[in-house]
Amino acid sequence: MKPKPELTTEEAWIKLQQYFDVNGSKINIYNLFQQNSKRFENFSLEIPTPEDGPILLDYSKNRLTEEALQLLLKLAQAREIEAARDAMFSGEKINFTENRAVLHIALRNRLNKSILIDNKDVMPEVNAVLNHMKQFTNEVLSKQWKGFTGKPIEDIVNIGIGGSDLGPLMVTEALKAFHVGPRVHFVSNIDGTHIAETLKKLNPETTLFIIASKTFTTQETITNATSAKIWLLETLKNPAAVACHFIALSTNNQKVKEFGIDEKNMFGFWDWVGGRYSLWSAIGLSISLSIGFENFEKLLNGAYFMDQHFCSAPLEKNAPVILALLGIWYHNFYKAETHALLPYDQYLHRFAAYFQQGDMESNGKYVTRAGKTVNYGTGPIVWGEPGTNGQHAFYQLLHQGTRLVPADFIIPIQSHNKVQGNLHHKILLANCFAQTEALMKGKNENEVRVELQKAGISPEQINLLLPHKIFEGNRPTNTILFKKITPFILGALIAMYEHKIFVQGIIWDINSFDQWGVELGKQLAKIIESELESTQTITSHDSSTNGLIAFAKNHSS
Ligand code: F6P
Repeated sequence: MKPKPELTTEEAWIKLQQYFDVNGSKINIYNLFQQNSKRFENFSLEIPTPEDGPILLDYSKNRLTEEALQLLLKLAQAREIEAARDAMFSGEKINFTENRAVLHIALRNRLNKSILIDNKDVMPEVNAVLNHMKQFTNEVLSKQWKGFTGKPIEDIVNIGIGGSDLGPLMVTEALKAFHVGPRVHFVSNIDGTHIAETLKKLNPETTLFIIASKTFTTQETITNATSAKIWLLETLKNPAAVACHFIALSTNNQKVKEFGIDEKNMFGFWDWVGGRYSLWSAIGLSISLSIGFENFEKLLNGAYFMDQHFCSAPLEKNAPVILALLGIWYHNFYKAETHALLPYDQYLHRFAAYFQQGDMESNGKYVTRAGKTVNYGTGPIVWGEPGTNGQHAFYQLLHQGTRLVPADFIIPIQSHNKVQGNLHHKILLANCFAQTEALMKGKNENEVRVELQKAGISPEQINLLLPHKIFEGNRPTNTILFKKITPFILGALIAMYEHKIFVQGIIWDINSFDQWGVELGKQLAKIIESELESTQTITSHDSSTNGLIAFAKNHSS
């Protein structure tokens, strides 16, 4: 990728800043609706899909005028989003700090078009692993795969962390309605409680462990995997049992062998699959075992569909691009610090947690590709919980707090669970739509006064209550609607956000694909781990860290 001029010196950026300085504080979303009866049509995208109905992105409830949108699109052009996208899709080594291509899109390249890295097509290997996953999934689901004592597998435990946990966990939860296989459990935390509580429920004879680790060196995963092996052998006694109960998903053959897992029970992937983009790879095996391989393929199909949309739709009709530009508008100009992901779907309860890693590990960087410290904000803090729970927890701040929190509301029109007819889902939909309307419209002084007068409240009480009951509104939201949460639609949604993150990384000129920031803590933890064992008083750190170590040692028994 070509070096870029400093972002704040781009003509498009300067124009946006000038526009914002004059208009930013005056833009009122509700007024924009009053001025343009076609605002919804003009500021929404309906993306037809070949399966499972269209996806609607309604971005009309934003502080976005036609002029601001045009200026943002000019910025996208100036930052050469399309060229950067093509560089990623063609296998260029855009993750230059690790000298790696970024090719999670190859894992769902459903038309199987060649993609070359160093003149070698990656697709034959991708397809070979997919075939292996298919064959293994079918063996387990048909109960042909037997544990050491001849019993079929009833429980699967995916042991992994970060990208080797969050994606499979989020997707298996999101697609529970499609569950056909063994029960799937996830162990990630080094806190022994996680594995201890999981194993309590399980029978070693019918449990299969999937050790998911790109590097196969991650301390948490290897420690948890070792504990799982000890637990298994306590009952099954024979080390030969490991071959029937342990599977590895990794890029590191050597370490997998050293751990004692048979190579034929290893599903490989490649350094060009980033951890937080790996659910499409062998790391998705627990997904395939949970919902069946055909459904896993539909997940890939959905992502492929969104890849095609990202590659072919013009910038102004490109969902990931629009989402990214809105993020830039709020984070860099309105100085919003966070972005909320609010799925109105219980099945999507880990969606925000998944994209916390997806977004924050990708774009939480203060150094440009050229190694300069940025003079603008980059990755937002991503957070969220499903509605309607969130409404009774943190929405107060969204409505009347001092901070601007742009939010995405994500909701299927149909539920997989029709409870009391369709009553639950009707209420859910109504709440979702009501929230975005309320956040945008607010409630003015006059409306509050009339309401209180109607309730027979005295004028003195009205004056007292009035300021507390006014909602200034003008709080921006996107709404993302689709018929039902299915593997295909979920695949498309995930890919849409992946590409949004990509576009923002390109605009900010950062490398969205490394994660050096995670390393320092890991290194220090190793040092402190040995210090916690030593009998000597530790003085090598600051007084706080020394004090914490001393306190822990004094109270360890
Ligand atoms: O937290 C850092 C990180 O490297 C993530 O990027 C990655 O998803 C996670 O650790 C797990 O790594 P691995 O799959 O190599 O065990």
